[in-house]
Amino acid sequence: MKKKVVIAAFSMVIAATFAFAASGKSKFTSKGCTACHHPSKDQLAMGLGSSLKMISVKYKGDKAGLVAFLQGKGKPRVAPQGYPIMRGQLARLSGMGKSDLNAIADFILNR
Ligand code: HEC
Repeated sequence: MKKKVVIAAFSMVIAATFAFAASGKSKFTSKGCTACHHPSKDQLAMGLGSSLKMISVKYKGDKAGLVAFLQGKGKPRVAPQGYPIMRGQLARLSGMGKSDLNAIADFILNR
């Protein structure tokens, strides 16, 4: 009996985590971020962005740092030479609440 409750609670946590990441993905897409950021392909040489994989490596274990970057408060860690392009893109996120930015950060970090 107790085991069933534990399993049920566990699957709810998994479902919630999945929904969270999924909504981060839809926000990332709807804000046009996918135009420059491919999940695994580095497009910096084409004047576009670094891959989400590269970003997730640099921000591993530092979701707060990633959210700060999205709020325009952080310093670029991935490809500072491309930052002038990215800086202008942060305007797409203005007006987004902390929970939305957290969802986007979760999506990026869970690549
Ligand atoms: C016009 C192309 C373009 C678009 C659109 C774009 N980016 Fe970027 N992004 C870049 C470039 C170029 C870099 C590399 C410079 C850098 O590392 O800051 C970058 C870097 C980043 C980084 C790494 C920051 C770091 O510390 O170096 C994050 C996170 C990021 N983008 C998130 C986003 C999000 C979220 C969106 C959608 C709102 C977005 N980008 C839209 C071009 C773009």
